[in-house]
Parts: sequence; C-alpha cells; structure tokens
Amino acid sequence: MRIAVLVSGRGSNLQALIDARTRGELPLDIAAVASDRSRCAALKRASDAGIVTIALNPRDFPDRPAFDRALFAALSDLGPDLVILAGFMRILDENVVAGASWPMINIHPSLLPKYPGLDTHARALAAGDTDHGASVHVVIPTLDSGPVIAQARIAVAPGDTPDVLAQRLLPREHALLTATVRLIARRRLALTPAEIQFDGRKLLAPLQLDERDELHLDPSIHCLA
Ligand code: GRF
Repeated sequence: MRIAVLVSGRGSNLQALIDARTRGELPLDIAAVASDRSRCAALKRASDAGIVTIALNPRDFPDRPAFDRALFAALSDLGPDLVILAGFMRILDENVVAGASWPMINIHPSLLPKYPGLDTHARALAAGDTDHGASVHVVIPTLDSGPVIAQARIAVAPGDTPDVLAQRLLPREHALLTATVRLIARRRLALTPAEIQFDGRKLLAPLQLDERDELHLDPSIHCLA
C-alpha cells in the first residue's frame, strides 16, 4: 500500500507513522509527505527519514481551489492508495476533495461529531465534558464531518487546562492514527465512498482504542451491519 501524508506543522503524528513503519508494524510505503509550509518541522521529519517531500506555497496560487488542484495533481502523480491528513491546517476546496480518486482520512482532536474546527480542548472544557478524545475520520467535502472510523478517549481531570488536555491527548492520537492505518494496511478496514467496512461488514460506530493501543468494536453499542 502506498500512502501520502499532508502536514502543516509539528508533525508528531507523521513521526508516529514513520516510527511504526521503522519498527515493522506498518506494511506500507510512504510515497511522499506534502505541505503548504515549506519550513515546517513535519517536512524536516520526513526528509530526515528519507521520504520524498513536496512543498507548495499558497501564495503562488491565485486562490484556494487553484492551490488545492495543484496539490491534488501532485498527489495523483504518486498514485496513492490512501492520503492521510495529519495536522494539515488548511480547509480543502469541496470540489477538489470530491474529485479525489483515493480515500482520505484525517485525525482530529475531539470526539467527533463534537467540536469540528479549532479550539477543541477549550470547547470540551467549557462544555464541562467528562470525556475528551480524538477521532480518525474519512475526509468528505464538508470539514471534519466524514464518517468516524476510530476514536481514542481520555478522562477530563479537575484542573485541566486546554494545554494540559492537548498534551495528555497527543500520545493517544499517535496510537490511534497508527492503529487505524495498520488496520487499513492489513485490509481489515476498507474505505469505500459509501461506507467503512471492518472485516468485510459495514461499520456503524467508531472502533475504540484500548489501553494496549489496539482498536476494537465498542461493546456498548451495535457496531456492525
Ligand atoms: C493534532 O492534534 C491533530 O489532531 C490535529 O493537528 C494536530 C497536529 O499535530 N489535526 P502534529 O503536527 O501531528 O504534531
């Protein structure tokens, strides 16, 4: 399986994928890492790992769709089986996303459908949530709204601040993204435009990450059609 990863910043989720692949836990080829920020730490992590990098500057394009079309043309040249958005901080043009011929997934720091968009940790705290977490979902033209494949949960503790919560969640994000990509690479998860399939059956509720960093069906609800 060939993947491409889109990044904009720190790249710790990308690093988790690179490390898992180095450990032999992810049977896939990272064809390239692409970014809208040529100097971001994530691109450095990719080149340090010997991965092809692609940087496109939004300022070189007249508008958002033109940038997105150029980015997706570069991705298309790679022939990816899967594109992973791992801290890619741009909203993608709906028509460009709709025209992609490969599945795309995104990692988002909330228990979707709660808190699409930014400031997820502060919003969870402001709402008095006792549970917080991260989701990996299929990318569709509407932001942070595609079917959720898998989630990792953490408890909110008294005195948590947005920063503390973000810090505690981050290692769970890494484990969540890695475990999800592993199931896709092992063909146990299949992403079709119509549905997510897990072991050949339609997945109705997100898989849950356990403390051993493995994904399983949620025992409290009916998960498979
Ligand atoms: C993560 O919190 C991810 O959920 C969100 O952006 C952040 C990226 O972090 N989409 P990193 O660049 O992977 O360290």
